[in-house]
Amino acid sequence: MKITNMKNIVNIAVTILIMLSVTSCFDKKKPNYRYMPNMYTSVAVETYSEYEILPNGQAALTPVKGTISRGWMPYEYENTQEGKTLATKELKIPLAVNEENLAKGKELFNIYCAICHGNKGDGQGTLVKREKFLGIPSLADKGRNITEGDIYHVMMYGLNSMGSYASQTNEKERWQITMHALDLKSKLNGEPLWSSTQKDSMEKETTSNEAN
Ligand code: HEC
Repeated sequence: MKITNMKNIVNIAVTILIMLSVTSCFDKKKPNYRYMPNMYTSVAVETYSEYEILPNGQAALTPVKGTISRGWMPYEYENTQEGKTLATKELKIPLAVNEENLAKGKELFNIYCAICHGNKGDGQGTLVKREKFLGIPSLADKGRNITEGDIYHVMMYGLNSMGSYASQTNEKERWQITMHALDLKSKLNGEPLWSSTQKDSMEKETTSNEAN
């Protein structure tokens, strides 16, 4: 009994000694052993790091002039009153007016726009009812020439206190939202749904559906 106890104590003491001797020389200020250093220190330039050889000393460079990101379509109308007037007059929905696009447009409008403009587009969104936001027009506002081009243009650049939706939505989505907004406008005016007046386009649907 006694001998085994002694043996245990010796075993434990030896183990502790070994552990101490292994760890005692370890310097916390220096990096540990690196078995494959190129896995830690990349040969290639690291994103957002500093490098003296690069312009401005940083890896984050601005894209070459004229660069277009994937999925982005250049928009040729300028963010000026003239640009808006031109877009209002000229821009036309390039997508087929069909159930799929209308349904998607409704979904997106309710996500992005309804908080201010209201689900019905009457300018009575939640933020307006809670008096957090003022001056939101009805989509049927008589003083405004709200056309397909105008709605799209306003989503691209925003308008005064309304922000731009160009980064949250892609081209196809903006046109889908525009379709729903036009339907809301006709409903507010007590007219037949705008989409129901687009029968020709509805029939063409199968060919031009995949714009994006
Ligand atoms: C934060 C609140 C807010 C949100 C969200 C918002 N809008 Fe607006 N919107 C406004 C305000 C405010 C105006 C009036 C701006 C002005 O005339 O100064 C406006 C104006 C408009 C107009 C009228 C443009 C014109 O030519 O007079 C349209 C169309 C429009 N918004 C569409 C949208 C669509 C589509 C969305 C969703 C993608 C949206 N808005 C999201 C606040 C908002």
